[in-house]
Amino acid sequence: MTCTNLTDTAAARILERINFLAGHSETPSGLTRRYLTPEHAAANQTVAQWMKEAGMAVETDSVGNVIGRYEGLRPELGSILVGSHLDSVPDGGRFDGTLGVITAIECVRQLYQTGRKLRHSVEIIGFGDEEGARFHTAFLGSRGFIGDLDPEVLKICDDKGTSLAQAMGQFQLDPTQINQNPKVPGDIACYLELHIEQGPVLQHHDLPVGIVSAIYGQTRAKIQLTGQTEHAGTVPMAVRRDALAGAAQTVLEIEAICNSYSDVGVLGTVGQIIPHPGASNVIAGSCSLTLDLRAPDDDNRQRVLETIEKRLEKLASQRGLQSSLTVVYNNEAVQCTPRLTKLISEAVSTLGVQPLSLGSGAGHDAVIMSSITDVGMIFVRCRDGISHSPDEFVSVEDLEAGFRLLQTTLELVSQSSR
Ligand code: HGY
Ligand code: MN
Ligand code: MN
Repeated sequence: MTCTNLTDTAAARILERINFLAGHSETPSGLTRRYLTPEHAAANQTVAQWMKEAGMAVETDSVGNVIGRYEGLRPELGSILVGSHLDSVPDGGRFDGTLGVITAIECVRQLYQTGRKLRHSVEIIGFGDEEGARFHTAFLGSRGFIGDLDPEVLKICDDKGTSLAQAMGQFQLDPTQINQNPKVPGDIACYLELHIEQGPVLQHHDLPVGIVSAIYGQTRAKIQLTGQTEHAGTVPMAVRRDALAGAAQTVLEIEAICNSYSDVGVLGTVGQIIPHPGASNVIAGSCSLTLDLRAPDDDNRQRVLETIEKRLEKLASQRGLQSSLTVVYNNEAVQCTPRLTKLISEAVSTLGVQPLSLGSGAGHDAVIMSSITDVGMIFVRCRDGISHSPDEFVSVEDLEAGFRLLQTTLELVSQSSR
């Protein structure tokens, strides 16, 4: 599948490619592209083709990330790594993640077309798994890229019972190599990521782009409630051990606890609730729930998690249920590197736009990359702040602004870095 009718403006080309890549979806409507699926492989192939056309050498690393490299004048300076993710949430939007990769390719394409090189090499990476939609643990792509994956993760199974190790084998990857060729700090001068804001702040300020100051800390956990599977028509209400009713109360208790901390920016979500056996005439004997907990401040997030754990134990014992809460992923809040946020701010000013700094409640691969290098992030306005939805949309004007900002930032970072 190649995308042929490219048009001549950067924004139009970016939009054309966003729409083309959205065709690599597990579902006919909306975009579902999960890690190590055939649709992920097709997206990697398409992105690799665009990278090659932009004069880049392309490889796939040990965990399925696609990486393009455009040589600079001074390779000893390390490379400026620009990236984002190519996976999506189920029935998600077409700009989340993909926009950062495609906009970066457009920046390099324009360098290549004009025969220019920066002092630094530029590497572009399309991470294979940021959302964690298939294996319910986030950032498998960027954590693999820096060699930070615990081999235990290979045993995690998706909802169909396929383990990560099996899925890697099906993707022509060797699971025993997951932490090979980790990038060492010297390889990378810094990491930049352009991403849609996924919130309403830029639209509220009528700004096309913004500078990310920090990324919230995040805890993802699995909650399991176990009671007794029984006949819905014969067991009196007073003696039931109904795991689904317990789960429903858990959702409302989590909501109430997080509401009580909303003044310090705590956000708590139960996104998935799966009763077993899930039949209308059977009292659910077990029920699993997901917890997604975020906050700008790590102590508040920890405090809320402990409060949730205590409230869960109490409601379970009142209902005669067993309960467990297992943290499957955790990252501390990350401050973006002041040196880079300053350069991005300068670049925003050159566009004639008022620089606005804002925090990110959404997680990004920059969180993982911050453990090995300096990180800077650019936000692009999305309509009404809607994301993780087929209604996600970015105007051509804002695509152009994001492209110009990333292009200018790359120049400034390469000129200023030691
Ligand atoms: O969940 C997030 O914050 C991101 O979209 N993965
Ligand atoms: Mn997302
Ligand atoms: Mn994203």
